[in-house]
Amino acid sequence: MNLTQKLSMRSLKGKMKQKELLKLEAKYCSWGDTVHYVPKPNVFERSKGSFLYDTKGTEYLDLQMWYSAANFGYKNERLNTALKNQIDVLPQLACQYLHEEKIQLATKLSQRMEITFEEKGRVHFNVGGSSAIEDAMKLVRNHTGRNLAFAFMGGYHGRTLGASAITSSFRYREHYGHFGDRAFFIPYPYCFRCPYDKKKESCSLHCLKLFERLFETEYYSVVDKKTNKSEFGAFFIESIQGTGGYIIPPQGYFKGLKQILERYNILMVDDEIQMGFFRTGKFWGIEHFDVVPDIITFGKALTNGLNPISGVWAKEKYISPDVFPPGSTHSTFSSNTLGTTVGLEVLKLIGESNFAESIPEKGKYLTSRFKALQQKYPEIGHVDGLGLAIRVEMCQKDGYTPNKELTDRIEVIGLGGKLSAGGKKRGLVLDVGGYYKNTFTLAPSFYITKEEMDLGVDLFEEAFKKALKKKG
Ligand SMILES: Cc1ncc(COP(=O)(O)O)c(C=O)c1O
Repeated sequence: MNLTQKLSMRSLKGKMKQKELLKLEAKYCSWGDTVHYVPKPNVFERSKGSFLYDTKGTEYLDLQMWYSAANFGYKNERLNTALKNQIDVLPQLACQYLHEEKIQLATKLSQRMEITFEEKGRVHFNVGGSSAIEDAMKLVRNHTGRNLAFAFMGGYHGRTLGASAITSSFRYREHYGHFGDRAFFIPYPYCFRCPYDKKKESCSLHCLKLFERLFETEYYSVVDKKTNKSEFGAFFIESIQGTGGYIIPPQGYFKGLKQILERYNILMVDDEIQMGFFRTGKFWGIEHFDVVPDIITFGKALTNGLNPISGVWAKEKYISPDVFPPGSTHSTFSSNTLGTTVGLEVLKLIGESNFAESIPEKGKYLTSRFKALQQKYPEIGHVDGLGLAIRVEMCQKDGYTPNKELTDRIEVIGLGGKLSAGGKKRGLVLDVGGYYKNTFTLAPSFYITKEEMDLGVDLFEEAFKKALKKKG
């Protein structure tokens, strides 16, 4: 057997032991992604529904579903079939040529906007979320002539250079030179930890008033009071802050914000990359807040994590061919036929489902189960949810001081695959976010059953108790 044959034998799926794989990974894979956030990365081999399986066949209940990209369950049969069928018909096509699914997908998304927001507009596809953000930035710059933007503290919009400039963490920019277009970061209405030490019940949206005051005088740096023109072209928001820890803003906040922005011709760009496609129980998260954004970006769950497609929808005046002509932006794999086909099937599936009812119902149940745990354990400082976007914030015994160590221990214990709730050896997959990296951002499959939710809570409690014990 020559070397090539030997290598291909060894790399046959399942033939290589996890240990050997990890050795190779340590040597040949870049560590620049997020794999090594945990000390011992897992290698998964199979998936189905709400579950992942590692190389030893251990089952892991997944309560994060690829950060909300696989909303419709792993290996969703209907979506996989759509993909497989398209592979046999038109698997590849340069995106300078048209195919039906692309047109249908753009049409369905735009028509939905017409119904929901009473706004005409168009869709431009790209591949990943960050690229869609970059395209949104182009639309804003093209329309306003401004390259400065507001964004939120705690906001996350991706890690390309443009998206990093409007993402709050300096850590993501630190090694990459000077960011002249770095956003002006505004405190987000994170009421559990109000940046102004106010109480939600009595603050009358104090944070919004402070934002409004920025425009009071030219000496606050954002507006020319002689012309009322702002130096800022857009405010990039997430309808629910995702990586920031699934933080739900109070009612009235976005509505008030939009009114302020309109006075100064500042566009509202709503990043729905994580919350879109019913994660919150509505098609777009922003629909909860009675606001019509100027531009919406989306990605992730549109293809359930199969061939990726992202995109941007904008009101007609920002994206019509006279202002955004051919060649304004492009990527080889944007509107790839496999992605548009799955995306279209996702929209059909949504149209035939009752997610508007089932997701809030499931969300309410799962949130209530975690709230019950909160009553038992003071370290669970805050539980909140909108649809199936649920936050569980871990604290010290005082129920407030952030507890990253405990959070990390629970995550690692879950990924260890040695829990026993439900009567067999299992693992639990959780995602950690939040300003202090102390928040579990739960995003289960839309098809999660009551039994699976109960199992998830039991596995969480078991991991939590083990993590508490490990402390000493
Ligand atoms: C709200 C939001 N915007 C943008 C992005 C970036 O998307 P991508 O990772 O596909 O580039 C993400 C990814 O997590 C996100 O959650």
